[in-house]
Amino acid sequence: MLVLGIETSCDETAVALYESERGICGHCIYSQTELHERYGGVVPELASRDHVQKLLPLIRQSLHKAKFALRDINAVAYTSGPGLMGALMVGASIGRSLAWALNIPALGVHHMEAHLLAPLLDRSPPDFPFVALLVSGGHTQLVFVRAIGDYRLLGQSLDDAAGEAFDKTAQLLGLGYPGGPEISRVASSGDPTRFNLPRPMTDRAGLDFSFSGLKTAVKLEIEKQQPLSSECLADIAASFERAIVDTLIVKCQRAIAETNVESLVVAGGVAANKTLREETHKLDCRVYFPSESLCTDNGAMVAFAGHQRLTSDVSDTLAIEVRPRWNLERLEVV
Ligand code: KG4
Ligand code: ZN
Repeated sequence: MLVLGIETSCDETAVALYESERGICGHCIYSQTELHERYGGVVPELASRDHVQKLLPLIRQSLHKAKFALRDINAVAYTSGPGLMGALMVGASIGRSLAWALNIPALGVHHMEAHLLAPLLDRSPPDFPFVALLVSGGHTQLVFVRAIGDYRLLGQSLDDAAGEAFDKTAQLLGLGYPGGPEISRVASSGDPTRFNLPRPMTDRAGLDFSFSGLKTAVKLEIEKQQPLSSECLADIAASFERAIVDTLIVKCQRAIAETNVESLVVAGGVAANKTLREETHKLDCRVYFPSESLCTDNGAMVAFAGHQRLTSDVSDTLAIEVRPRWNLERLEVV
């Protein structure tokens, strides 16, 4: 089965194909970073308009790259939530229309499920059950995964997501967008022990997160250190990055102990963070990350998640529907 995967939930227009035998092919991404950079964050209306312009050429490019024709596609999978309403509508409309014209099924995919399943694309994937730490621009969640579609939320952020904390802190430090890679770059020459920043909610029981206080602590430190030297900027970035990573590691360890699983999956944009990847060696379990290009938003994870559901005869209605908010626990088990 050949599945076309379409991702337009935020600021990446991304397309890929997943073929049952061959795996991922025709992987293409167009990032809107330049478009949103000067605003310091994603402008939803600009994102939607740009997806409209880029999606069809990208589908053609993906097919060409993988040496397939439109008529070879057996099904279309597109992200139908969570995400920005207008941006999701572009992928949903084009995905469904294409499937209608080709007389093939189409399926709306949950964006966080797609992130969560991305490590299964690896040569040595994790076995079920496992715990997944999902860390993206919009979500920070710990999920107990028994099977595809069988998800129990163990904890989540009560305010800012981890990626959002990176983005907002980068803005405070006068760095570019997206903030995660920028902070990492600057932090690599900094001293992560110079500033004693909080590790929020690690001193109390539970698996929820809260990152907005950490951002405020950074803001106060920046005000205290004016004028900010480049050395001080690097030290603040490194201390902030270490505080987020330490917090995530503490909660992961707790989730592993509570569920007694042997494997942890870390996925979503922040999973690309080098310090986080290194620090997971401290955990008492096997840790699985998607390859770096599959951490941030991409069409491959959507094509794969769609493929796993479509080959299990899961169907969808013909309506062009999106779900800007969508509870992962409500998905059907495959
Ligand atoms: O999964 P993703 O591409 O989009 C959403 O679903 O939100 O995640 C984007 C987030 C952004 O907040 C970005 O700053 C963060 O992932 N990110 C990183 C890194 N690369 C991307 N955060 C920390 N370190 C990185 N290397
Ligand atoms: Zn994402």
